[in-house]
Amino acid sequence: MKEMKGKLLRPNFHVHAEEGWINDPNGLVYFNGRYHAFYQHYPNDVHWGPMHWGHVVSDDLVHWERLPIALYPGDEGDKNGCFSGSAIVWQDKLWVLYTGFTENEGGETIRQIQCLASSQDGVHFEKHGIVIGEDNLPEAYCPWDFRDPKVWRKDGYFWCVVAVRAKGGRGRILLYRSEDLFSWTFINDVFGEDCPGMMIECPDYLDEKGLLLFGEQFSPQEGKTHLNVHTTRWCVGALNYQTGRFEEKNRGIVDYGFDFYAPQTFAGSDVMMGWLQMWDRNIPSEKYGFAGMLTLARKLEVVREELHQTPVIQGETVKEAVDVKSIVDDAKIGVLRIQAKNLRSLRLALRKKGESQAELALKDGEFIFDRSKVGEEITGVEKDEDSLNGIRRMPFSGRENVELTVVMDEFSVEIFENGKVLSSTIYPDQDATEICLTVDAQECVYRRESLK
Ligand code: FRU
Repeated sequence: MKEMKGKLLRPNFHVHAEEGWINDPNGLVYFNGRYHAFYQHYPNDVHWGPMHWGHVVSDDLVHWERLPIALYPGDEGDKNGCFSGSAIVWQDKLWVLYTGFTENEGGETIRQIQCLASSQDGVHFEKHGIVIGEDNLPEAYCPWDFRDPKVWRKDGYFWCVVAVRAKGGRGRILLYRSEDLFSWTFINDVFGEDCPGMMIECPDYLDEKGLLLFGEQFSPQEGKTHLNVHTTRWCVGALNYQTGRFEEKNRGIVDYGFDFYAPQTFAGSDVMMGWLQMWDRNIPSEKYGFAGMLTLARKLEVVREELHQTPVIQGETVKEAVDVKSIVDDAKIGVLRIQAKNLRSLRLALRKKGESQAELALKDGEFIFDRSKVGEEITGVEKDEDSLNGIRRMPFSGRENVELTVVMDEFSVEIFENGKVLSSTIYPDQDATEICLTVDAQECVYRRESLK
């Protein structure tokens, strides 16, 4: 966010609000020669409130320029909020399908239904009202928990998946089909059974890869690598368009860090962004007037039935060292690339100043990230030992040749190895800038890239 530099402390290349709150990325799309990212936004406070769609555009998915708010709540169907949704380009126009939210005066949710809006220039939107209403939701599901449509086109139809809760049950994903974006037909419940969590949010489907993504609210913790109370899963398989069922082959967790939720892919593409934050946590940047940001864009692949993610970011090399056993560097923003042969162990301290540091260690076949000793304390609702100690873990590939990529911004680190990712916010002192790396490997090259 170039225009924000120097004004207040802000992320450099992560989408965030100039003022106020943001959550999920919405309507990610390439339209009229630029990438557009919309996001859940409340401009009047650093806490969640009546949802608007904020809007930024980019040429390279790294540097973003702010545009005016695209959708305001207050119309038919979206009286109290324009919730998450997605975009598609059709007949030279940009169309967005999103959830309209209505509540009563006491703040109790009354309805969540799906609305349509369109834009000729990608900036100003005309609302077309409700297109998937309560009358188009089978009796077995709750119209007060029915949200986040993701639309795509295949075989001459529009399709969309929408998250819902079964009456007396938990989260489900429903498939709909349309010929014109206005009139939709219910096809099926893609799994036909409850998810482990309380509710599903933000489903997404990449047809060419057979990849289904979705958020799970309040899902039970599993082992040491799924500790977040809200998590995001991937499933590899195939959506059968005749039956409307997803035939699953494998599933896993999208991100191993503290702060990742509600991702979405760009329309018709395999590039994804998520919310680099988590519900039910304190957000120390509130004092600078903003809360929440989006992750880097990541390219998705399916490799041997597993999700594989790589960051869409390329800086300019500003420091390089070969035969590294240990190295000290100085930077708080940029990309670190550590290439190692037969890597046995590693310790990387970031944003270090005295005893204060964020730390990544490779030990006993896993990466352990520790943010307990860096800057301001972040607490959540998770009460397990790792969460209370500021720890998150990610499996190590154990490959002979390893490339570890660490992307650092003012308030975040995103760590990639062999397609797996661990993303977390951190709130260090502004002058904590030291980097210390120690490795035990046959060979190791350290490279730091800066981003202009
Ligand atoms: C996910 C979510 C969505 C909803 C939006 C509201 O983070 O809860 O399900 O549309 O946020 O802001």
